[in-house]
Amino acid sequence: MDGNGRWAKQHGLPRVIGHRRGANALRRVVRACVQRQISVLTVFAFSSENWQRPETEVKALMVLFVHSLRREVEKLHEAGVRLRFIGERGRFDAALQHRMDAAERLTANNSCMTMVIAVNYGGRWDLTQAARALAADVLTGRLALEKVDEHALSSHLALADLPEPDLLIRSGGEQRISNFLLWQMAYTELYFTQTLWPDFRVDDLDQALAWFAQRDRRFGRVESTQLRVECA
Ligand code: IPE
Ligand code: MG
Repeated sequence: MDGNGRWAKQHGLPRVIGHRRGANALRRVVRACVQRQISVLTVFAFSSENWQRPETEVKALMVLFVHSLRREVEKLHEAGVRLRFIGERGRFDAALQHRMDAAERLTANNSCMTMVIAVNYGGRWDLTQAARALAADVLTGRLALEKVDEHALSSHLALADLPEPDLLIRSGGEQRISNFLLWQMAYTELYFTQTLWPDFRVDDLDQALAWFAQRDRRFGRVESTQLRVECA
């Protein structure tokens, strides 16, 4: 979800207003994804690099985060959304961590859509913590060295129990991954749009989905594969 700051600048507003409008855009998109029976939606809300922004902006983002959770979790629960947070949450203040835990517990049995919110997340962090967990398994004898393979590594990654993403949408015009789901996106279709995130509407989502539907996904093979998503 990129482009909040530029949106604010274009409108002569402080960056924090851009982030607030960005939260509104997310609310619209989540609702539309549930309606479209998307089974998993993962959003990059705050990266491990975002701490390097000015303190006032980081603070404003934390306030917005807490506020959004307070406002939205109950509604998401009613809509059958299961919430999950990925990233290193130890760095957030205790109240926010508590809110994340509570939201996950409340929605744990929902099955219509899983919404994964990446906070203080980085793809390299994810791979590093998985490598550390694997090393610990080997060291303690739970796993033989020969059993260290792709499957073993990926079982320790953040989205281990969820399908790899089919489609990545990046708003704001940049064409890069920016340390998002590095391992999990090996075969993800990448969609880039100039639209700044606060301007991202359901129409933009539908355009991206229509583009995705046209893709011929071969996964390194020759024949095309048709994938279906269903709301359980
Ligand atoms: C993305 O918008 C939101 C977060 C990283 C939280 P940006 O804040 O990166 O917006 P630009 O890139 O400055 O326009
Ligand atoms: Mg940006």
